[in-house]
Amino acid sequence: MSAVPALPPGYRLVTLDEVDSTNEEAKRGAASGAAAGTVIWARSQRRGRGRRGREWISPPGNLYCSLLLRPEQPPDIVAQLGFAAALAAGQAIAALLPDPEAVRHKWPNDVLVRGRKVAGILLESSGTTGAPLEWLVIGTGVNVASHPDDPERPATSLAAEGAKATVSELLERYLACLDPWLGRWRGEGFEPLRKAWLAHAQGLGEAIEVRLPRGTLAGRFAGLDAAGALIVAEKDGTRRTVTAGEVFLPPAPGSEKRV
Ligand code: BTN
Repeated sequence: MSAVPALPPGYRLVTLDEVDSTNEEAKRGAASGAAAGTVIWARSQRRGRGRRGREWISPPGNLYCSLLLRPEQPPDIVAQLGFAAALAAGQAIAALLPDPEAVRHKWPNDVLVRGRKVAGILLESSGTTGAPLEWLVIGTGVNVASHPDDPERPATSLAAEGAKATVSELLERYLACLDPWLGRWRGEGFEPLRKAWLAHAQGLGEAIEVRLPRGTLAGRFAGLDAAGALIVAEKDGTRRTVTAGEVFLPPAPGSEKRV
């Protein structure tokens, strides 16, 4: 594969050496009329952003990209596209690893290898009310060459897991996997994505802790509902659905740090 990634039909690539955040650049594009299918790819970000207001440290060597879409659906439905992105990132990563089975998903959209985070997705959209959206940005970060070191949120990189991929190759694979998932979502709804995601979910049926906007919920990871909310079964059997929170899972077997 070449240094310039091949794109699925209808996509347009904007390559930048450095940017504040590819999501910000995609949002600026959305405001000035850029078409759905525009992909912003930067080699590094000065102010990369993660979920829940966190920083996404973005040195050269990892993948930072944002896809602009104009899905014309309400925000709660469009949030399901985060699962499409996570599935695509998982497939692209699995294809490059010595052990593809090591790839798992953590709610809502993290991709793990041996229980450690390798990729994250940040969705941003033109609105939060029930009105159809003008635009949606799917921001994707994958640790290719390096990863942050945070004991509370263990991470890894493709390099640390024995993959020898370039960022360009990964982006090409990611978009090639993402486009069919977007098509399935448009044609068949969320159900195929839900099934595929659950088939590779980390810790299904096992203990889970969710930090909610207010308080913590502990229980068993019981599944994903028809809209993409997390289902947690509490000790007394009560089933709770969670639409916003941060999930913590017990360490996966074999998740020890590779040195
Ligand atoms: C997460 O917290 O898991 C989401 C991380 C998303 C990071 C990506 S990198 C490309 C895009 N630009 C950003 O500023 N963030 C997203």
